[in-house]
Amino acid sequence: SSVTIPPPACMLRPLEVPFRYLFGPGPSNVPPRILAAGGRPIIGHMHSEMFGIMNDIKKGIQYAFQTSNNMTLAMSGSGHTAMECAVFNIVEPGESVLVAINGIWGERVAEIAERMVKQTPALAKYKPVLFFLTHGESSAGLVHPMDGVGDICHKYNCLLLVDSVASLGAAPLLMDQQNIDILYTGSQKALNAPPGTAPVSFSERACHKMFNRKTKPVSYLLDMTHLSNYWGNDGKPERIYHHTGPVSGFFALRESLAILAEMGLENSWSHHTEIAEYLWKGLEDLGLKLFIKDKDLRLPSVTTIAIPEGYDWKELLAYIMKHHRIEFTGGLGPSVGMVLRIGLMGYNCNKANAAMVLAALEDALKQCRKSKA
Ligand code: GLV
Repeated sequence: SSVTIPPPACMLRPLEVPFRYLFGPGPSNVPPRILAAGGRPIIGHMHSEMFGIMNDIKKGIQYAFQTSNNMTLAMSGSGHTAMECAVFNIVEPGESVLVAINGIWGERVAEIAERMVKQTPALAKYKPVLFFLTHGESSAGLVHPMDGVGDICHKYNCLLLVDSVASLGAAPLLMDQQNIDILYTGSQKALNAPPGTAPVSFSERACHKMFNRKTKPVSYLLDMTHLSNYWGNDGKPERIYHHTGPVSGFFALRESLAILAEMGLENSWSHHTEIAEYLWKGLEDLGLKLFIKDKDLRLPSVTTIAIPEGYDWKELLAYIMKHHRIEFTGGLGPSVGMVLRIGLMGYNCNKANAAMVLAALEDALKQCRKSKA
């Protein structure tokens, strides 16, 4: 027998990756320090030094989330992995889930939950075991107020699950004080690590529910019984092989959490707000309309602007990419065709970049106007 399929020509060419300013809703540009951390030599996923690094990551997440939850870890995968992990581990077949849909992420969780349970419209009547709410809705550019939500959920014996993928580090969020039972984020937004890891934390209440279930969660990979052991959270003397974690991704995540710890959460929040306000003013000076009218409800990390009349949004994006090497994006899910989205997160969040965004938009508005408009 012999090889009949030849090596593909593309594989005999070097990898080419263009430079881009990632000023969309993520991933954002990764600072050299985090890239360097991800480029360190690999060690085994079960080496004691790796467990030490995972312990550091856990502490970094506890700080970033403002929680003392023991059940804190990073998922091997994007924010979606954490989303599915939460639903799969908390909910058993036949139970109900309540989902607030304020953009695409609620739609996603509803879709995940629908695969295993029935959806319900009211807390008191249907007794959902889980309520989902997105804190930073990147499709709408909205930050959802969190105070009081956890208290209502607990009154009805329901756990509160919050998505902070787009908001963590950019807008204030206090897991323990706000009575959030399960919180997750992604590595690639304000944390500025490469995509592929997702911090998550479970309260005691959430642990009680998920570790006293009658059925096993449908996913082996996302089963928290195994993951809690892999992360050294289950009190057992030994960690047993479950899956091979993304070693380089964890190095990078540790570095990104270290940068946040050095800067301080409050500084990071106020910095994002300051740059966002500068950007919002500049956008309005260009005659653009911000999609979220109420300033207090605007997500500082991802700004949505209404597509200006007389323009084709795809053409605007293509022009800006071609002539300025800048990525902005259009809407997502329910906001497609309604908005353009601009993200300035973490390392990318500074006045010089905001000025670059404004200059690129000003140029595009001049060049792309439809003749009939
Ligand atoms: C993805 O996370 C997005 O908001 O586009």
